[in-house]
Amino acid sequence: MIIAIDGPAASGKSTTAKGVSQILDIPYLDTGAMYRAITYFVLENKIDIEDASVLKQVLDDIKIRFESENGKNEIYLKGKKVTSLIRTTAVTSHVSRISAVKDIRISMVKLQRSIGEENGCVMEGRDIGTVVFPHADFKFFLIADIEVRAKRRLKDLAELGETKSLEILMEEIEKRDKMDSSRDYSPLAKADNAIEIDTGVLSIDEQIEIIIKRVTNK
Ligand code: DC
Repeated sequence: MIIAIDGPAASGKSTTAKGVSQILDIPYLDTGAMYRAITYFVLENKIDIEDASVLKQVLDDIKIRFESENGKNEIYLKGKKVTSLIRTTAVTSHVSRISAVKDIRISMVKLQRSIGEENGCVMEGRDIGTVVFPHADFKFFLIADIEVRAKRRLKDLAELGETKSLEILMEEIEKRDKMDSSRDYSPLAKADNAIEIDTGVLSIDEQIEIIIKRVTNK
């Protein structure tokens, strides 16, 4: 079974998708983490993504894998654990530009499809219901008011030891959403048959329950 959960930044996708995957006991995949891992690699190695042959080499060599360790999802890039490194402000501010590159998307979508097809998946991202799995069994599109989303990110950043003003965060999130929605190739979009859920007015348990009820028809 494939459950696609899409939506803009900080709309509650990760928390919801993780909860749904635990209850239904099917794997969970955070596709944003994959684009973040590539972005981290590009920045760290000062890769010129405009150079097609260099980019091809990078994509041929890159190995991204997920491991569940002590109940936590860890992401490895070429054998190195990068779970925290992909959440920094530097990565966040470059990820929209880098994830808009067509060849990067083609490579990531291929990997996402092969992971999803193996054992089924609760997959979260921006283009899962539209491009990666247009025939997903269930599609959801999460939204929330910009201030609610910025407050969530503020909390995430505090856990990483970073501080930022709410206003700046709201601007950054809006900018990222705009770039993600306006790119030429597979932009952030709600699939026609996706069910929209406003997480700004719901608790995490309620968000999860709406999806579980739909999926199990109970
Ligand atoms: O979900 P996130 O905020 O960690 O995602 C980081 C970025 O990755 C997001 O700004 C756009 C990109 N992304 C994408 O283009 N397609 C996806 N399926 C998932 C994320």
